[in-house]
Amino acid sequence: MNETHLNGESSDIISENVKQLQQLFPEVFVEDSIDFEKLRTVLGEYVDEDEERYNFTWWGKSQALRLAQIPSTGTLRPYPEESIDWDTTQNLYIEGDNLEVLKLLQKNYHNKIKMIYIDPPYNTGNDFVYLDDFTDNMQRYLEITGQKSEKGGKLSTNSETSGRYHTNWLNMMYPRLRLARNLLSDAGVIFISIDDTELENLRKICNEIFGKENFVAQILWKKRSTPPNDKVIGAQHDYIVIYQKQDFKGNLFLRPRTEKQLSRYKNPDNHPKGPWTPGDLMANVKGGRYVQSLYFPITNPRTGQVHYPGENGNWRFNQDKVERLMENDEIYFGEKDNGRPKLKRFLKNVKSGITWTSIWDFSPLNTAGSQEMEQLLGSSGIFENPKPVGLLCDLLKLGSSEDCVVLDFFSGAASTAHAIMELNSYDSGSRKFVMVQLPETTSEKSEPYKAGYSNICEIGKERIRRSGENIKAELAKKYQAQQNQMMVADEKQIMNPDDLDIGFKVFKLDSSNLRKWQVNEEDLETSLFENIENFVSGRSDLDVVYEIMLKYGIDLTLPVEETGSGDHKLFSVGLGALLICLDDEIKTSAAQEIVRLKGELKPEVMRVVFRDSGFKDDSTKTNIKEILRTNGVDEIVSI
Ligand SMILES: C[S@@+](CC[C@H](N)C(=O)[O-])C[C@H]1O[C@@H](n2cnc3c(N)ncnc32)[C@H](O)[C@@H]1O
Repeated sequence: MNETHLNGESSDIISENVKQLQQLFPEVFVEDSIDFEKLRTVLGEYVDEDEERYNFTWWGKSQALRLAQIPSTGTLRPYPEESIDWDTTQNLYIEGDNLEVLKLLQKNYHNKIKMIYIDPPYNTGNDFVYLDDFTDNMQRYLEITGQKSEKGGKLSTNSETSGRYHTNWLNMMYPRLRLARNLLSDAGVIFISIDDTELENLRKICNEIFGKENFVAQILWKKRSTPPNDKVIGAQHDYIVIYQKQDFKGNLFLRPRTEKQLSRYKNPDNHPKGPWTPGDLMANVKGGRYVQSLYFPITNPRTGQVHYPGENGNWRFNQDKVERLMENDEIYFGEKDNGRPKLKRFLKNVKSGITWTSIWDFSPLNTAGSQEMEQLLGSSGIFENPKPVGLLCDLLKLGSSEDCVVLDFFSGAASTAHAIMELNSYDSGSRKFVMVQLPETTSEKSEPYKAGYSNICEIGKERIRRSGENIKAELAKKYQAQQNQMMVADEKQIMNPDDLDIGFKVFKLDSSNLRKWQVNEEDLETSLFENIENFVSGRSDLDVVYEIMLKYGIDLTLPVEETGSGDHKLFSVGLGALLICLDDEIKTSAAQEIVRLKGELKPEVMRVVFRDSGFKDDSTKTNIKEILRTNGVDEIVSI
């Protein structure tokens, strides 16, 4: 049985990296330190000793790299009252600075995210670029969001005259992208919206973080039909830059055929291979140089009519193959059986979709994003330039599988969540979303503020609530119609609206619930007294339960049940895989109750967490541990 002590920090990224290196090259480790000379030898000719090597750097880059590696001292606090379908939903809405949130998600989502879409600030001079604090980023966040000072900090725009214009943007993006890469699964893909201002810099940092060889494409999407007239050349487009985690089969998907394209495939003769469409049996040849073995007569077996290839061609297959096709009834002579022979092309044999192009034209929809928001929220100007749902649905078709997790950590008005629910309702998928957004306050004179939205997270959550309701209502109508047999039999099965997840669990970034052992030398007595109590005052049991799940890397969407009879309250996570007791006075009866639950729930592995200060004395603690050990509890943790 293991015994551990849990502290209030997120996973340590540097030590994870060192562990991986140790697995690859155990020989370069000397008493847990790396012998760089040996590592150099192991890597041989791949080591670049030249000081003038090709390198992209800027002021603050190494500090930004270090920032990505410092564990977060924050946590995510649950807000069931602001959530929808708290007990069942698989979706998350997280309020907070995405750097800290990405650090906190390192354990839970390591290697688990199939698709990331982000639409970061383009750095146009009008959008603000979050400035991280290299000494205490959590503290800065709490000040900015008004949780540490009365006024709340100001988020200023990054102006072109700031002298650190591109540098500020790079310092903001670099650590976030590094952390994001860890979350991508092997088949993972990241899509990043950007315009000309930072395109070049974005490509360079992505080449470094994801590897140049993992660049997939740079889609140019035409977003407006008319150019803005602020310059001689008015930009009508943005870009979507795509990188994959690695070259992996199945990381991207062909464009699904539309209903119209599919309707060309029919099965009038009830062919056992299913629906087909007539395709060419003849191949054109250049300059009359046809191939002798492909030039022969084909006779319609029913009418006796004989056909030769046309003047400029030969058949696509030799005589043997054509005979086999005839035997299998795979040659078609037209509706009236008197036409030239054609090949039956079966739907099941054609590629599952169509190749995507690198230019996407959404120009007729240039204001679609804003219109969609206006329709949903009932007034205009609530959020500037949200992305159109249609664009995001296409990106999801390209990069997500039907049951994966999609992350957007600059989620703004939550257009990505809207698109995920929309697409799921269309293709019966069960994609789940994780939205992350800073609770950026809206100014008092702004439209969103007047409409009752004090920060962008309020807009995002309301957007998901309303779009989810609408999508579900629409789906319910279609489902009912199909149930009433008002739809044609071979049309695709409509998803049961009860299976569509339109809920989300809200979490908010805050400082850890676990008090750190920080002694104030000047007031030793109070300081020691405060530290005996392990939890920050004002935090609930549920806050602590979710922090434990987060630090353990347990899925935050797993059900948490309050259980236990008698003297103790126990929280059971994932049907007994983790049992948490946060009581003040833990007696041996707690151990008996845990053993009883172990027998009842039969989890494969059981871990138990206790509040350390809850043990009255050392002998009760030892007794409890002994009872649990003899009854096969795998791990005990105290916090
Ligand atoms: C361009 S908007 C995204 C719009 C979104 N794609 C949509 O269609 O609704 C970028 C968003 O990122 C948010 N943001 C900027 N810095 C952030 C940070 N450090 N953490 C979380 N969100 C941040 C901004 O508040 C802004 O709402």
